[in-house]
Amino acid sequence: MSGANAVKEDRLWQRHAAMAKLGGTPRGGVNRQALSPEDAAARNQLARWASARGFAIFTDAIGNLFVRREGSDPKAAPVMSGSHMDSQPTGGRFDGMYGVLAAFEALEALEDAGVTTKRPVMAVAWTNEEGSRFQPGAMGSAVFAGTYELDEMLAQKDWKGVVLKDALAETLKAAPAPRREGIPGFPVDSYVEAHIEQGPRLENAATTIGVVTAIQGSRRYIVTIEGEEAHAGTTPRAARKDAYAAATRLAAALYEATADTDDTLRFTIGRVEVSPGSPNTVPGKVSFTIDMRHPDDTVLVEREAAIERLLAEKTKPCTASLQKVTNVPPTNFDPAVIDLVRAKATGLGLTNMDMPSGAGHDAMHVAKLCPTGMIFVPCERGISHNEIENATPSDLAAGTRVLVEVLEALANR
Ligand code: GLV
Ligand code: MN
Ligand code: MN
Repeated sequence: MSGANAVKEDRLWQRHAAMAKLGGTPRGGVNRQALSPEDAAARNQLARWASARGFAIFTDAIGNLFVRREGSDPKAAPVMSGSHMDSQPTGGRFDGMYGVLAAFEALEALEDAGVTTKRPVMAVAWTNEEGSRFQPGAMGSAVFAGTYELDEMLAQKDWKGVVLKDALAETLKAAPAPRREGIPGFPVDSYVEAHIEQGPRLENAATTIGVVTAIQGSRRYIVTIEGEEAHAGTTPRAARKDAYAAATRLAAALYEATADTDDTLRFTIGRVEVSPGSPNTVPGKVSFTIDMRHPDDTVLVEREAAIERLLAEKTKPCTASLQKVTNVPPTNFDPAVIDLVRAKATGLGLTNMDMPSGAGHDAMHVAKLCPTGMIFVPCERGISHNEIENATPSDLAAGTRVLVEVLEALANR
């Protein structure tokens, strides 16, 4: 039996159902934010499944969780696949989790089929991909790739002031795994990540497999506007330094400055904090996040300059500052891995199309280390970062079959 034939659609679906209970929300989604007790529960679940199959598990200094199936040459660099188990606060059951469970299913399928590979094959759950609790996102893979400094990441705080180092220690206490040193990470031969598309193109084209060619560039910022707190009932307009009024003028100008005719630029203000948050005090401070993406980095450079200009222009008499949280340039995946994904999908008789990714993924950091690619499967109406996110068992299994074949080919090179 081939590895791809040993993929079990029902087992893969049941594993998604089991994971969806960990942080499950009443609307059918998940709230399993990075380094929360729910994240620890998912780590323990994956570790239990791995141990039951006799696969080794270990973790590293940023809490990435690795599962390893040995190859015939244990000294050979491993082929790796995975994604993330953390979610948005109102996240879905598949964003990230599919990539981890597809990778784990690939290990199990190889085991069930009795396939020997030269290289070890590893599944990985990267720490804090979403970046909704701790900034920046895709943190575990970026630290592994040497892009972000470990100590700087351990010092990050969530919106409530919890230090990441403490949350990580709590998580690893609740979900212990043997620790391996090595940050930046160990040598990896190649990396392939499976993920739901998170957009509507595959579904609209009635196509099962997205052969991912690239990831667009993305930048995240925090804007902070400082005004002056004052009494809401007594302070005349001319005497106010209303930070929220300044924020709304700035936001309106930013939406306008980032609108492009072909609707390629993505601009989102996703979190706003108004301080002190009292109905009868003029707000003295506002901060909001900006997430901006485009396939062409020069466009992001231009729009960043426009943001800086508008910051000064639109916020008087308050003052405003811009903190850049992330700057991830566009990623082009390895042509040989892209060709391999396309060839394996076609060989399995699956409809497929080449496409870039609008969403960010851990693969964008791992791509700096080794030949890297991605496999997309459709999700219902393209909806993601939403509790109603959905995908079909057969599409998830189809993507996993492609993944097994790709991993097997890479692991026998
Ligand atoms: C990942 O969730 C992203 O923001 O693209
Ligand atoms: Mn994801
Ligand atoms: Mn996501």
